Amino acid sequence: MEFKSLKIGKFELDLPIVQGGMGIGISRSNLAAAVSNSGGLGVLSGAQIGHDEPDFETNTLQANLRAVKKHIKKAKEATNGKMIGINLMVAMENYEEHVQAAVDAGVDIIISGAGLPLTLPGLLKGSDTMFAPIVSGARAAKALLKNYDRKYQVAPDMIVIEGPKAGGHLGFKLEDIEKDTIDLDQIVKDVIEISNDYAQKYQKEIPVIVAGGVFDGNDIAHYLKLGASGVQMATRFIATEECDAHINFKNAIINSKKEDIILVKSPVGMPGRAILNPFSQKYGIKREKIRKCYNCVKPCNPATTIYCISKALLHAVRGEVDEALLFCGSNAYRVNELTTVDDLMQTLKQELLSA
Ligand SMILES: Cc1cc2nc3c(=O)[nH]c(=O)nc-3n(C[C@H](O)[C@H](O)[C@H](O)COP(=O)(O)O)c2cc1C
Repeated sequence: MEFKSLKIGKFELDLPIVQGGMGIGISRSNLAAAVSNSGGLGVLSGAQIGHDEPDFETNTLQANLRAVKKHIKKAKEATNGKMIGINLMVAMENYEEHVQAAVDAGVDIIISGAGLPLTLPGLLKGSDTMFAPIVSGARAAKALLKNYDRKYQVAPDMIVIEGPKAGGHLGFKLEDIEKDTIDLDQIVKDVIEISNDYAQKYQKEIPVIVAGGVFDGNDIAHYLKLGASGVQMATRFIATEECDAHINFKNAIINSKKEDIILVKSPVGMPGRAILNPFSQKYGIKREKIRKCYNCVKPCNPATTIYCISKALLHAVRGEVDEALLFCGSNAYRVNELTTVDDLMQTLKQELLSA
């Protein structure tokens, strides 16, 4: 099918593809820059982004805030100023400080989910940074847009809808995901309708982007035909040379089979999707004793949590895959080889054109 470029504020992207932010350390400046250089929107994840800073263990917050700035600057330099985003989860401790650091570094858009980013427009006031909430349903979209309108007299610059097939944390009840009762197409139509009202009121375009299990050009075409402006894809970008993930994580995605993709509980208080491995097999059965708290997410209580999510994700970025929580989308098992970002983007473009 013929498709349009993706317009977000003053930026116009050749391909309607946003690369989903992936923490910890899976999407940093290397992956994000490669995606933006190939015509999409590259997005860093701000979750423990300073994991390899020398003072990360002793001075975690400062190490992370420094790394937010460092990686945004690196990505902007590597792309000659192309559009770069950062994903900051509302559930993160010190969310406001991370937003400020990203704004100071000149990030173009902040994408926020894992909670409702109700205060984000206020935090961005007076800056050029755009914002996009991530929602899992029309009710959340409606409440957010109404709140932005009443409290700040603004509308978001983009909306990401994340469906039940996504990787990472999922904004649905475990039983609804398991029973497969969620109608993502209907959610997409409803959110587009809601966003149209505010687009009209504020005389701006609000691109609606669909995420979760988007695998090929046919999937992209499907959502464009429903009226979406683009898609957000994450898992497919893990198995690329430019991805910041450890090679062991990339290989775990490439070698995974359908039965290896499972749902897990998380200290964030939402279900998640990950690869079956010794860690995810064990989780939930035996509670882990927390020796060090990284003070990462608000809903977690180190005294009662089933495991430390920072530690589990840090194992992943360090390549210690048996002890790691390996987040992935439901289609991870269909990824069978390592590629480059540009090859992947070109393949998706060709598939989309012939869809
Ligand atoms: C390894 C991994 C880490 C992720 N980390 C985050 C994160 O830190 N914040 C967030 O909002 N979403 C996160 N996600 C969700 C993605 O940004 C994306 O929306 C989703 O995975 C899309 O589905 P797909 O992977 O099937 O393409 C993560 C996903 C994966 C696979």
